[in-house]
Amino acid sequence: MNNAHSPIGVYDSGIGGLTVAHAITRLLPNEDIIYFGDTAHLPYGDKSEAAIQAYSIKIADVLLKKGCKVIVIACNSASSAAYELLKEYVRKDAHIINVIDPMITYVAQHFTDKTIGLIGTKRTVMSGIYNQRLSLVNNSIALKSLATPLLAPMIEEGFFNNQISHEIIAQYLSEGELKDINALILACTHYPLIKKEISQFYKNMVTILDSSEVVALALKERLEESELINPQPISTKRFFVSDYTPSFEASTRLFFGEIVHLEQHRLWS
Ligand code: DGL
Repeated sequence: MNNAHSPIGVYDSGIGGLTVAHAITRLLPNEDIIYFGDTAHLPYGDKSEAAIQAYSIKIADVLLKKGCKVIVIACNSASSAAYELLKEYVRKDAHIINVIDPMITYVAQHFTDKTIGLIGTKRTVMSGIYNQRLSLVNNSIALKSLATPLLAPMIEEGFFNNQISHEIIAQYLSEGELKDINALILACTHYPLIKKEISQFYKNMVTILDSSEVVALALKERLEESELINPQPISTKRFFVSDYTPSFEASTRLFFGEIVHLEQHRLWS
């Protein structure tokens, strides 16, 4: 088993998970981070469960070889398709955190008797996982979900805070499924970039729930419970992708707040 000085592994289908990695670095500045973006297989939202499971196992192998003490699945699609499998797979070697359970805990505590909306990829919405998990802890909450598959590629192409993004967002959010909600879960790690636009669509009357901060908090609690908080004040961060392109590197600034250097690490040679 690894120790407090070991790094935290974070992975996503691409660079959207950098929103979660960024929240982690703000809350836990002493921690070393190893990020893996599976850009060769993005988007995960349209893939089968079996394919996402196979990619996730390969990525877990990479992160375990690099000695990670915990793996954060910074992707809703992968959390819904591969969390249970990965938990078994890495059991003795590392802790594992997904992006869904911390949000379920937060919603269950704060939205009793309310109606909540959810937007995410087809994979996440079709899995029904938020409904399943939420009904186990608070069945007074009505959850209405809508797949919004255009949003992740739109954001990755840099289309947000403009006319096109306003129209696509408005089109999706005007759908009947999301009528009369008190809060909206952003069940995709790309969506924090359009949080403000979504809030404006609802004239700031609907609470917009983005998982990056609740996930970082859940990670901190897990590290504290397991006595795995890194006491050393100097940290390093490395960012790997399964398929490097300069445009992915340029987009890191959108998701991480600064451009980071991406290193290529193929999953299959
Ligand atoms: N970031 C992924 C998620 O949270 C969505 C992007 C994709 O479809 O790969 O689901």
